[in-house]
Amino acid sequence: MDAVINAATNREAIQVAERVHWVGALDPQLRTFDLILQTANGTTYNAYLLRGSEGVAVIDTVKEEFADEFFTRLESVADYSEIKVIVLNHLEPDHTGALPTLLQRAPQAQVYISYKAPKMLKALLKDEQTLQFNPVNTGDEISLGDRTLRFIHTPYLHWPDTQCAYLPEDYILFSGDVFGCHFCDTRLFNDLCGDFRFSFEYYYAHIMRPFRKYVLEALQHIEPLELEIIAPSHGPILRDRPNSYVQRFRELATSKLPIEQGSDKTLLIFYLSSYGNTAKMAQAVCSGAETVANVRVSLYDLAGGEVEPFVNLVEEADGIALGSPTINGDATKPIWDLLSSMVMIETQGKLGAAFGSYGWSGEAVDMLESRLRGLKFKVPVPGFRVKLIPTEEELQQCHDFGVQLGKVLTGKTTHKVIDFEDLV
Ligand code: FEO
Repeated sequence: MDAVINAATNREAIQVAERVHWVGALDPQLRTFDLILQTANGTTYNAYLLRGSEGVAVIDTVKEEFADEFFTRLESVADYSEIKVIVLNHLEPDHTGALPTLLQRAPQAQVYISYKAPKMLKALLKDEQTLQFNPVNTGDEISLGDRTLRFIHTPYLHWPDTQCAYLPEDYILFSGDVFGCHFCDTRLFNDLCGDFRFSFEYYYAHIMRPFRKYVLEALQHIEPLELEIIAPSHGPILRDRPNSYVQRFRELATSKLPIEQGSDKTLLIFYLSSYGNTAKMAQAVCSGAETVANVRVSLYDLAGGEVEPFVNLVEEADGIALGSPTINGDATKPIWDLLSSMVMIETQGKLGAAFGSYGWSGEAVDMLESRLRGLKFKVPVPGFRVKLIPTEEELQQCHDFGVQLGKVLTGKTTHKVIDFEDLV
């Protein structure tokens, strides 16, 4: 262990396997990453150097401020003239910051990026004329003589261009941000490091969870691989029981709330009510949706103010309806809190709807619908507003509104939904 710590401290490359070295950088002082992630242990920018019989590959680089550390490590195990290949598993600047300098020092190197990455790479380097790159997709391979890199396209984990590179001769998966975490430890390997389970789960929750569908797709490619080591782009290198981390991703991406609804569609109604008017509306919407066969409806009053427990429910649901009065020209805070928590989960394509009672101006429903669309919910049934106390007729309309939502969920009614992305 001491040898690893000393090498990390002295900016030496650290051997990961017979032909693979870690040439990354340590950032123990980082406390916030990408504005949204807390990094109580800092992070590492992992880059790797692979030596084949016919050349050297560099897999990812580091954040620009840490380029000196990266180059010092790299120079301890290879000459720039030996570098034949540079692989960028995705183009976020924390992994491409040293690329321009690396290309100056190793101009002969061929850059391999995802077939989804060329436009981003050009934007990143601002050097369209001279830039040479090779787009690759799942199954494409690079030969370094006695070593091979085979690519797996893993889109949205967490950028559109994310890919992994597999080294079949040594059973190593260079996984990019997948299976990574923000945890800086000079012991570098998971069997030597401190307890990083919190960081691993936290990173998944904030970075991968919104793309759960893509996690499951990627696992179909990764699970069949024989794995000795997972070498991610952040945090510990996973050489002890690497498959357990793959398995953990499978667990995290699998439905957390198996319930007995079978093939029923689930609609969650969340509401707040100052004088009981929006509550009456919510109950009427609920009673209407319940009349539609194969729809399972749940009604929740957010008056308690706590919304986090509902995020898992929304992740599993087929649709939500939000009821809020308008207070001072706005929807109520717990509803906004619930919506803001949804950036952590996949909401694209779920049904969304809004309703509420109002006294003067009634902006809340429009505002909620707009936010739902922003989160990629489909909002095919126009929101429903009632001025002050709902009449019997208006409660019947709320009931009908619920019936409509239920029918949309079960496909019994189809609405033309304009996707604003199509209009761009
Ligand atoms: Fe670690 Fe997505 O950059």
